Parts: sequence; structure tokens; C-alpha cells
Amino acid sequence: MFHVKRELDLTAEHEGLVIGLFDKPEKFSGSLAKLDERFEGQLTELVKSGDISAKLKRISKVHSLGKTTAKRIWFVGLGKEKELSFDKLREAFGKLFKEVKGSKQEEVAVFVDSFTTDEWDGLDAAHALSEAMALATYEFNGYRQKSNEPEKKLTNLTIYSELFDQEDVQAALTVGYTFGKGTNSARTLVNTPGNLLTATDLAHYAAELGARYDFEVEILEKAEIEKLGMGAFLAVNKGSAEPPKMIVLKYQGKQEWKDVIGLVGKGITFDTGGYSIKTKAGIVGMKTDMGGAAAVLGAMEIIGEMRPEQNVVAVIPSTDNMISAGAFKPDDVITSMSGKTIEVLNTDAEGRLVLADALTYAKHHGANYLVDVATLTGGVITALGVHTTGAMTNYEPLYEQVLEASMESGEQMWQLPLFESEKERVRNSQVADLNNSPGREGHAIVAGAFIGEFAEGTPWVHLDIAGTATSSKAYDLGPSGATGVMVRTLALFVERFEPMET
Ligand code: BES
Ligand code: MN
Ligand code: ZN
Repeated sequence: MFHVKRELDLTAEHEGLVIGLFDKPEKFSGSLAKLDERFEGQLTELVKSGDISAKLKRISKVHSLGKTTAKRIWFVGLGKEKELSFDKLREAFGKLFKEVKGSKQEEVAVFVDSFTTDEWDGLDAAHALSEAMALATYEFNGYRQKSNEPEKKLTNLTIYSELFDQEDVQAALTVGYTFGKGTNSARTLVNTPGNLLTATDLAHYAAELGARYDFEVEILEKAEIEKLGMGAFLAVNKGSAEPPKMIVLKYQGKQEWKDVIGLVGKGITFDTGGYSIKTKAGIVGMKTDMGGAAAVLGAMEIIGEMRPEQNVVAVIPSTDNMISAGAFKPDDVITSMSGKTIEVLNTDAEGRLVLADALTYAKHHGANYLVDVATLTGGVITALGVHTTGAMTNYEPLYEQVLEASMESGEQMWQLPLFESEKERVRNSQVADLNNSPGREGHAIVAGAFIGEFAEGTPWVHLDIAGTATSSKAYDLGPSGATGVMVRTLALFVERFEPMET
């Protein structure tokens, strides 16, 4: 798929040649000057006149009219070098690949050196490029009788780099592509409707992933879940015709099973709200309520490929949240695996219930650090909108490592506070240790506070992706629908993770 070559070959046949263009007065130099010569200086003229734009994310396609063996040249506007962030570079590549895909081209060559700055080199640019290619060209084909899959796919990329080691560039391309692919796997899981992705289906998917990457796989069946006393998880499943699954994947990259990172993902395959039923508008889209599970599985795919020197246990509680005569109800009191009792005030606050037992179970598997990811609350959308994941923590140094990874991945997150006052609201019940829904005020925060009760003393970060797991509009790095948010952040976080004094 990626062929790395050294010198920009102006005699090689290409469907397209891609060049990054910074907004600066200097003329083309080096190999690009030679290219311009073939056009008798016309490229310089077109840049001057603005017909080829150096404005950020502007894509200009120039037909070569036989002046060079590349049939067309794609210029990618990068704006002012000093103002270009790495995120914007990745987005510019995304926009490029969407246009290349739109023009049905199967092959393109990229002169990667033209995308470097003082802040990042050709290897970083190569990573951004291959990641963006995978992300931006992703499609969910759906289930139409007539497939909308294009006959032609971009499958062949030549990367020219005169300044950087070919093998290093190749490796960076592979890493970027791996990150993109893991994200796309998560997107497909989230886009799949609830009738076609039950807890059993999700467990099969995870088991297959585990077999592929040699993870230890444990799928707890209902009887075992009962034996372990996961009363919170079981309560949510009570109304369902589908059996619940507690999915566990273990990846051991260290000699010893220590410094274990627990990744916990909410795996509600469909959320009706239960007896606290959702509105007919609010229920649509609730197939995406396993976005946290998908993020964890996507990250595990990347971890399986990259094999970092880390220990990871992924835990996914999966069920749908349905209504029937057997379903759990408001006022029910349930006992979680931790022993903590919970008064159910709202059956639609089910995510925190399944996560409570999953966190406890992750600790049973030796997790020393916990990160949970969940499409947890509409409240986080009210607080932060749909482009920013809400984060909460009981341990700042761990959050800083997650935040660092998110910044590098270009996935925005913002921390919400967990003050004692809101913890008190969760602990307020006449009949039980906790209640699962203390009211709408700051409800993203109280949901986080509830989950935090089960992290107890273990360093923990909670990521609420209710707003960010899907996008109603297409964007530079993907189509509308599932975004695969947090896959890349989690994978990068794991890769870079440094154990802390706790
Ligand atoms: N799965 C929903 C949260 C959600 C909302 C995800 C919108 C994606 C988009 C969650 O289980 C839920 O229903 N949360 C309730 C909590 C409330 C009952 C305290 C909510 O946010 O309204
Ligand atoms: Mn709900
Ligand atoms: Zn839910």
C-alpha cells in the first residue's frame, strides 16, 4: 500500500502528485524548483495569482497537461508555517484524501518533505498522512440492497522523502495507518444497529480480536456474572431477551503482571431508557450506546498491532437496556459486586450501573489504574458541546497522561470537577449506600461521581463521550455517524504510559 522512495522522481508515472504549500513568499526550491521548471515557472505564477492557494486546508488540483509524468498535481494549502498545528496538518491531509477519493483515484504520490516544519519532521508528517488517509476515506456501507461502495478505491501510495530515512518513514506510515484502522473498526461497531450487534455479537467480536492478537480472553456468561454478584450489571439486563456478557481481554507486555492499566468501556448495545423510558426522539441513535466499548476494542486492536511494553486489561460490560415484566424499576434497590447497595431512581441512568461492576471487576483482574469510556450523559453535551469529551478524575497525574495523549491525537477533552458536594448527592439515599440519579443539575458530574465511588482508592479517569462518539455532519477526518473517538487517545496513552507514585 505504501511505497517509500527517496528522490522525487519527475519521470515516474503517477495519477497525482501531492505537495504541501506553506504561505510564504519564497519560491519553490530543490526538487520542486525542478518541477516548476517543467512548467516554465507557471506554478510559481499560479501560486502568486492565488489560483493555487496556500491558505490552510485549501486543496488545489492542477492538471499537468503533459508537462510532467504525474497526471495532476494536488497542492495542499498549509497556511503560515508558524501557525500550523499538527492537528490542522492531519485535517488538511484528511481533506486532501476526501478529494482524491471523490475524484476516484486509485494511486497518488506524496512529497512528504513539503509537509515538515521546525516542529515536526517527515516521520510525524508520514504518521499524520497515513492516519488521515485511513480516517478520511472511511465509509460505512450500511445495508442497502444496492451497494454504494465505489468501484475504485485509493489503494496505492508512493511517498517521496529526500530528507528522512526510508525505513523510518515506512514505519511511521504503518503506525499512522494502524491508528486509523483501529479507529475505523470502532466506527463500524458503533454504526452497526442493535439488532445486528447484541452483547453476544460484541463478545464474539472481542474473542476474535483476542485470538488474532494473542490476548487472554474471558467472556463471563450470565451464570458466572450472577455467581460474582454483579447485581448492578444484572439489574440493567433484567428486561432483556439477550443474555449479558462481561468481556475481558488481557494483554501482557511486561514480564510481570504489574502496573496494570484497566480500560473499561460501556457496552450498552441499545438504550431504551427502561421504565424511565426515553422520548420517541431521544431513543433514536441509542445503538451508539456501546461507543465506550468500541473505543476500548479499537484501542486494543492498535495495542495488539503495536505490542507496547505495558499491561492492559480491557473490561466491557455488555447488554441492552430494555423493558419487560422482568425489567428493573425505579425504587428497586440492588447490590453491586463491591457490596455497595444502590437505590435505582432512574433506569435510564444504566451506564453507571454496568460500569460500577466493570470497574470492580477490572480491579479484581489487577488493574492499578482505571480509565473508563462511556456515552454516559446528555449532560456532558449541555456542558461541553459535541466536539469535546468530558473528563473527570480522582488522580490528577493520571489525567495528565490521558490529556497529553488526547492532545497529540487531536481529540479534545476538558475536565469537569468532582467536588465533595456532588459526591454527597450520589451518597444521598434513605434506603441504600448510593442513588443512581440525584437530579439533572450537573448530571454529567454526578454520573462521574457515582462511578468514582467504585474506583475507590485506585487512580481513575472517566471519559464521557456522549457528545463526541458520533457526528451529525461529515468532517475532514470522517463521514457523519460514529467518530471512533478516544480510540487513538487510549492507544497512545497506553503506549506512552508511565507508572506513577500513588
Ligand atoms: N446513553 C445515555 C446518554 C446519551 C445521551 C448518550 C445522548 C448519547 C447521546 C445514558 O444512558 C442516559 O440515558 N443518560 C441520562 C441520564 C439521566 C437519566 C440521569 C441522560 O443523560 O439524560
Ligand atoms: Mn440511559
Ligand atoms: Zn445509556
